[in-house]
Amino acid sequence: MALVSEATLETFHNSFERCISCPEFFDIFYERFFASSDEIVSFFEGKDLPRILKMVKDALFLILMASDKSSFATKKIESLASFHAGLGVQPAHYDFWLSALLCTVEENDPQFDQDVADAWSEVLSHGLAIMKAACLESSPSLSS
Ligand code: HEM
Repeated sequence: MALVSEATLETFHNSFERCISCPEFFDIFYERFFASSDEIVSFFEGKDLPRILKMVKDALFLILMASDKSSFATKKIESLASFHAGLGVQPAHYDFWLSALLCTVEENDPQFDQDVADAWSEVLSHGLAIMKAACLESSPSLSS
């Protein structure tokens, strides 16, 4: 059985298509994400942002697949999660990330409504749970 219903996946997918019809969608999203806190900005100093944004877009597809129980996608997200934990990313940073993403969807999807917001949150929740769990696993305070 799928983790997310067909109807939710379809709502998410249609909204995603409307959002990415705006070529600047990911730039606007990360501008919002950076505006969340100076700490977020400092993570990205000296990084190749256009390359990262292209990969984030691909990773959203993986999260979508993982939400539908793809073990291939889940393994890829687990590896992305360990990579981020190694950078020192904390669970709260993912809350900033999700909040920036949902605001950007609201601004860019002309059909945005509560169902659309719920579909994004639901589809992303499995992937975000994996990302957050990896931070906690690698937290030094847990082993002391
Ligand atoms: C579910 C949410 C997220 C997804 C899907 C995601 C996805 C990605 C991907 C695909 C990359 C490129 C990895 C590579 O070069 O192989 C990346 C890089 C990066 N991400 Fe995330 N990310 C997320 C959340 C975050 C958060 C919350 C932070 C915290 C500030 C963050 C910080 C970074 C940094 C600093 C890099 C660049 C690392 C480097 O090139 O050395 N990400 N992210």
